[in-house]
Amino acid sequence: MSGQPQDWQSDRYQKNAGFVAVLGMPVVELLRPQNGERILDLGCGDGYLTEKLVEMGCEVVGVDAGEDMIRVAREKGLDAHVMDGHALTFEAEFDAVFSNAALHWMLRPAEVVAGVKRALKPGGRFVGEFGGHTNVAACKTAMIAVLNARGLDGASFSPWYFPTPEEYGSLLTAQGFEVHTAELIPRPTLLPTDVGGWMDTFGEAFFKALPADQRAEARAEAVELLRPSLCDSEGRWTADYVRLRFSASLPG
Ligand code: BEZ
Repeated sequence: MSGQPQDWQSDRYQKNAGFVAVLGMPVVELLRPQNGERILDLGCGDGYLTEKLVEMGCEVVGVDAGEDMIRVAREKGLDAHVMDGHALTFEAEFDAVFSNAALHWMLRPAEVVAGVKRALKPGGRFVGEFGGHTNVAACKTAMIAVLNARGLDGASFSPWYFPTPEEYGSLLTAQGFEVHTAELIPRPTLLPTDVGGWMDTFGEAFFKALPADQRAEARAEAVELLRPSLCDSEGRWTADYVRLRFSASLPG
């Protein structure tokens, strides 16, 4: 996560979006962490996956722009710091940089990749997953539509970067990485709440664009726009997630 117009409250995140970190285990597997490796967890959130990497024998530093998230990560005993992913301060000290469900919040990706490159030792790996092209397209379109209906340019409030694999691969290559894999993985995701709960956690940037007294009505309208496509006959909501999973490395 990063410093977007977004309030990262760890308790609300855990309730509405605890699945995000749990579903990140395949990315840990793609990283293939080795005992004793020094790893940077970029956008570590409350440290769920950081802790898994520590349990696998790695020396891990977590960074995230959300202060409350870092507070919780530290309570777990993790080496975690508040830091903007666009301005990483590390120099040639990590064997790998790992990132799950965070890079789409960082809207200047070239700055992020440059910081990752600086942080890595020669031969270092950059492995991650985040929202790819068409991620949460229905949810995003509904929020844009309710803003547009109120006279705003809804799309201009999107806080997300959802590139194609080709676009992100080119960015990595331009900074000297060799790209081993970059692919889109559709992953419809059952939500623990209705889509309103999801929007409360992730859609703040859209609803904050409205005067406070219009937000509840706009939220309810977006939920109803999404009901036909995302809610099943038993009232379960599924968000239309599409992941971009990638693995790259620097020359040795
Ligand atoms: C994601 O993990 O892909 C995501 C989460 C929240 C908002 C948008 C995307």
